[in-house]
Amino acid sequence: MFSRITGIGSFLPGEAVSNDDLARRGIETSDQWISSRTGIRFRHLAENGETSSDLALEASRRALAGAGLAASDLDLIIVATSTPDYIFPSTACLLQSKLGNHGATAFDVQAVCSGFVYALTIADKFIRSGSHRRALVVGSEVFSRILDWSDRATCVLFGDGAGAVVVEASEQPGILATALHADGAHHGILSVPGSVCGGQVTGDPFLRMDGQAVFKFAVRVLAEVAEECCRAAGISPADIDWLIPHQANIRILEATAKRMKLPMDKVIVTVDRHGNTSAASVPLALDEAVRDRRIQAGQKILLEGVGGGFTWGAVLIEL
Ligand code: ACO
Repeated sequence: MFSRITGIGSFLPGEAVSNDDLARRGIETSDQWISSRTGIRFRHLAENGETSSDLALEASRRALAGAGLAASDLDLIIVATSTPDYIFPSTACLLQSKLGNHGATAFDVQAVCSGFVYALTIADKFIRSGSHRRALVVGSEVFSRILDWSDRATCVLFGDGAGAVVVEASEQPGILATALHADGAHHGILSVPGSVCGGQVTGDPFLRMDGQAVFKFAVRVLAEVAEECCRAAGISPADIDWLIPHQANIRILEATAKRMKLPMDKVIVTVDRHGNTSAASVPLALDEAVRDRRIQAGQKILLEGVGGGFTWGAVLIEL
């Protein structure tokens, strides 16, 4: 028994917000600074009150339509998010309610920007075990809620959005290999070190990052885990048709491709128009490249995540 992606969908809230729009809103920055250091030109930002489960719902409906399934056909719903609607219940249960599914296994995965590759790997293992047959795997984030809009070094980097895939049991392999890692020793370089206690927010509820430490760490582990995942599938990185790394920063993508000796025209890039959407970035990029027909049936696509924790991982797929 294998698992295979049979439907893909994504959703971006509102209009694109440019770097100049951010400067006009009072952030002391410029298009030149942001685009030269990160490649980011636009991002989408959710309206007040628009939540991760709302964005997930739109992306999920599109993925279900692509798979030709109804929500009632699902027996597993996994949402990767670091910006859940509530402390509990899980965003997966809220999404399940909005979709009108009753009884499927539903839970969230917290692995920050690696969340989608973690969730997809978990779904693959559930399906291969024979316990489940039709999974919805979603990455959905409203990072705009946890940004300190007075910290120009972080607030310009992120955006909101959601991406979803339907994964079904199949006799043909679709998910070819997976690899997941974490090292909590690096928790301090990227975190939201706050919590709620006794009715008060304690600690710091905003995203904090040591940008240069994150940069170096991300490039090293993205190249290493790509090698590991390819080795597990018995191929070399040169055999990959498309690389879809977590869309953090164009310079991280370029450095990763260089280490893997892959030309940039094999790398799917959306960070210029989406910013960093954390767990949503990989399925958003996958959806775009399938819809514009760059990705064709039978090609090998390596999905990669890296994020707070630190966590990192890769999933090699064939559509
Ligand atoms: N606009 C204008 N100036 C700015 C801005 C801004 N938005 N942000 C910072 N600056 C200024 C700083 O104040 C500083 O000024 P100073 O020299 O007068 O003190 C100067 O620019 C340089 O600041 P640095 O923080 O040293 O800038 P750096 O060159 O390291 O670039 C960046 C910062 C882009 C974040 C870089 O470290 C990076 O790309 N890191 C990767 C981290 C990343 O992408 N994280 C995403 C989340 S992690 C993940 O998804 C895995």
